[in-house]
Order: sequence, then C-alpha cells, then structure tokens
Amino acid sequence: MNTLFTSLHIKNVTLRNRIVMPPMCMYSAGSDGLATPWHSFHYRTRAQGGTALIIQEATAVESRGRISSRDLGIWDDSHIPGLRDIVKGIKAEGAVPAIQLGHAGRKCCAPGEDVIAPSPINFDPADGEYKTPREMSRQDMDVVAESFKNAALRAAEAGYEILEIHGAHGYLISEFLSPLTNTRTDDFGGDIARRAEFLRMIVRAVRSVWKEENPLILRISALDYAEGGNKSEDLAQIINLVKDEGIDIVHVSTGGVVPNVKIPAGPAFQIPAARIIKNLTGLPVVGGGLITSSSQAEEVVSSGDADLVFLGRELLRNPYFPLLSAQEAGVDLSYWPAQYARSK
Ligand SMILES: Cc1cc2nc3c(=O)[nH]c(=O)nc-3n(C[C@H](O)[C@H](O)[C@H](O)COP(=O)(O)O)c2cc1C
Repeated sequence: MNTLFTSLHIKNVTLRNRIVMPPMCMYSAGSDGLATPWHSFHYRTRAQGGTALIIQEATAVESRGRISSRDLGIWDDSHIPGLRDIVKGIKAEGAVPAIQLGHAGRKCCAPGEDVIAPSPINFDPADGEYKTPREMSRQDMDVVAESFKNAALRAAEAGYEILEIHGAHGYLISEFLSPLTNTRTDDFGGDIARRAEFLRMIVRAVRSVWKEENPLILRISALDYAEGGNKSEDLAQIINLVKDEGIDIVHVSTGGVVPNVKIPAGPAFQIPAARIIKNLTGLPVVGGGLITSSSQAEEVVSSGDADLVFLGRELLRNPYFPLLSAQEAGVDLSYWPAQYARSK
C-alpha cells in the first residue's frame, strides 16, 4: 500500500499527496523585496513536478526582518502583484500555495537596518556579517506583531491558501523561544511559558485576520544542539501553550539557533524530532531532513512519524521528484502533465 500519494484534507485545503516543498530562500528578489518572473517560474516548475504543497521561501514582514537585501518582502502593498503571479502559477499546476512569513531578528544582514532581538547578543561575533542587535522594547514587539498581521492580510489578498509562521532557525521568533538567545527578565523571558509569549502575540495577530478555515503552520527548530538549549520536549511544551491560538500543523526543523554546533545530519535525521512533536502535541506534522529517495519519503509518512514529508534540496535538484517517485511506486497520477503524457 502506498501512502505518499494519498491526499490529505486539512480545513478547507486538499493536498493531492504528502510531498511538501519547504521554504528555501533564493536571494533573488530586488533590493525592494519585489518578486521577479524568476520566482514564478521556479515555484511553478515544482508544482508542475507533482509537489502537493509549495511553501514559498521566508518572506520578510518588515524590511529590517530580511536576512539579506535580496529577500522577498511582504511589508508593502507594492509586493502583492508579484506574489499574486507566484500564486497563480502554483495553482495552475494543481498545487497548494503557502507562504512563510519571516522576521530575521538578530540574523538580519541587510545593510542599514535596525537589527532587533529579544536580547542584545550577537549571533556570531567572529563572523563580521552580524551586528549586535538592539534589545526590543514592549512597543517594538507590538510593531512587529502588527507587521505580521498586515503581512497576513496581504498574503490573503495575493491568494495564498496556507500561512506558515517562521518560528525556526534562530530568527526573531525562535530567538524568543530559546534560553540561549533570550535572557530577558520581563514577561517575555525566563521560564518556558514566558519565552512562548511573543510567539503567542504573533499567532494571535495573524489569526485575527487569517481566516479560520485556512490552515496555519508553525515552523520550529525542535533542537538547538547546544548545552542549555531547547530540545524537542521543550518545543512540544511551547506548542501546547499556544496551539489553541490557531495553529493547525507543525513543520519540524532543527538548528540554526546558535553557531558552530555539531548537527548529526544524515537521511531523515530530523524525523525523530517530528515524531516527538507529533506525539506530544497531537498536531499533524511535516517532517523530513535529507530525504532524497521515494522509499525514504514513503517510510516517513507510512510509519506515521509525520503526516507530510518535506524535500528541500532534492526538489531544487529535481523538480520532477514526485512524478518520478509515483512511477517508481507504480502509482498512476491523474495530474501527470497532459503535455508530457508520452513520457510516462
Ligand atoms: C537554499 C536554502 C534556503 C533555505 N531557506 C529557508 C527558509 O527560507 N526558511 C526555512 O524555514 N528554511 C529554509 N531552509 C531550510 C529548508 O527548508 C530545509 O529545512 C533544509 O534544506 C533541510 O531539508 P533538505 O535536507 O530536504 O534540504 C533553506 C535551505 C536551503 C538549502
């Protein structure tokens, strides 16, 4: 029995199979954050290749929330037409368009920006790229929450069907969650419940405008890989504290919180974390990490460790991975592109 090519229904969205393209920054936007025809082509190609859910790369809710000056942006209405083109292309090929809303926090390397974080700790002082961030005030937090809310409104206007909040990899939200990057002594730092409060603010702000029937994904780093840092059980606790604000799916990644750590990367290396998060929160999860074959992808979903499987670099190398995997598994897909029928 094949599970990878079964559909999944979540709220008002139906995914045609279990394969997800995770967000991957392409650093190809203009310095104004505007999408280009290249982005539409890039995402449409993966949709044509049979991927069910395309999660667009981290798209900045504020200009100071960019990782680089070539990140995509969604902080201004002028961004909407280019994003709408990306959405149209993905939908035309039968995939579901999602967008990852991000804020880089202390990992902002775009020149001339106001670099903010929960605490004034430089990500990596040895690497000249990073500035020491300014510690956020309560007012700064309100401004960022409002930016996430406005970004969610623009995402709806552009036609995305799913939103993903970027709470992973040591960017702003993740910085609040980890005790290694959050040393605040106010209501937003200290024990796990306080460290989860900024995430709660963001989810609440987004959910105040993002339709109830449309799914909301939270991406997390389940492991900091450092002494004193978060582990999967901590993240599960954080999710359980805030999930009732409207989180439908957890997208489980790891790392990126502090530099120079040892990551035991290998095929499906982030799946144990996905399994823990799924078991302890009861929410559906997207899991993956160095998945490169259809048998590995099938194992992730048929074992029940994850509901959906993400393939990042594999889909960059081979946009047709889903179509080819279905062929290998002897599954006849109704969405094989008609123009390519003779290549079946
Ligand atoms: C070029 C590149 C850019 C990435 N950008 C993002 C991003 O914008 N947001 C995010 O959450 N993860 C990002 N990631 C992480 C991927 O989503 C994914 O978790 C990672 O590549 C591991 O999956 P894989 O082994 O299947 O490639 C990026 C990875 C790559 C290779």
